[in-house]
Amino acid sequence: MTILDGKKVSNDIKNEIKADVDQMIAKNEKVPHLAAVLVGNDGASMTYVNSKVKACERVGFKSTLVKLSSTISELELLEQIKKLNEDDDIDGFIVQLPLPKQIDTQKVLMTVDPDKDVDGFHPTNFGKMALDMTSFIPATPFGILELLERYNVETNGKHTVVIGRSHIVGRPMSILMGRKGFPGNSTVTLTHSHTKNITQIISQADIVISALGKPNFLKAEMVKDDVVVIDVGITRVPDETKKRGYRITGDVDYENVSKKASHITPVPGGVGPMTIAMLLKNTLLARELHRI
Ligand code: GUN
Repeated sequence: MTILDGKKVSNDIKNEIKADVDQMIAKNEKVPHLAAVLVGNDGASMTYVNSKVKACERVGFKSTLVKLSSTISELELLEQIKKLNEDDDIDGFIVQLPLPKQIDTQKVLMTVDPDKDVDGFHPTNFGKMALDMTSFIPATPFGILELLERYNVETNGKHTVVIGRSHIVGRPMSILMGRKGFPGNSTVTLTHSHTKNITQIISQADIVISALGKPNFLKAEMVKDDVVVIDVGITRVPDETKKRGYRITGDVDYENVSKKASHITPVPGGVGPMTIAMLLKNTLLARELHRI
């Protein structure tokens, strides 16, 4: 059994990006600049955004954090986004989700300049992804592809079952695993809350990508021998033994499923760190795009 070590791979990627940035500095070139928009003070969102800013420092990127009140109007937020679109110093930016109820998320995402959309959430980038065109690929699915590639996990002709159809993970993942090439060339089943006989479908999977957010959903008796398991779950479970008062739990019963799997991602230390590394990679790509 091979553990797909996202912590290690994400570190490798950050070192590679840092080496690229060092070369830019040596040539007196502008370094990549990522901005993050954080609306309100949701605990998890603040943690994610802070990790993204810290990761920028680690690789030598410039970063800007735009903190906005949870009571901001949609119009004001759209104005902020337009400013970032027009700011030539900023190569890419993200709007941390979820957004407060008064704001139409799709409207916000559609206002982001597709050439600065390092989250890959704009319909232009999503459409390009589906059409095998070069685009920004959402960071979590991109990170999963990178893990599969670096560990040389066979995906060609395999049956991939994706659990969950979120716009951020499940839906793009289902498209990417079916694209031509490696990692890809998979036969994909996208399952969700209305899927009938989900356990039977999962039992036929060569690769399971679980992005459901339900701790211990995937049990050993549900999967076949030598399955590849990608756990995207990151649920906070109260835990008084931890300083922060919670621990992060994936969708997979890791202890038992890992005994049956050929490859598996741990939580934490699997997909999570890859997401940030790939956001940096997209920002580097955005810098290259804007240099031309
Ligand atoms: N919320 C949860 N995941 C993400 C992500 O990848 N990007 C943004 N912007 N918000 C998120």
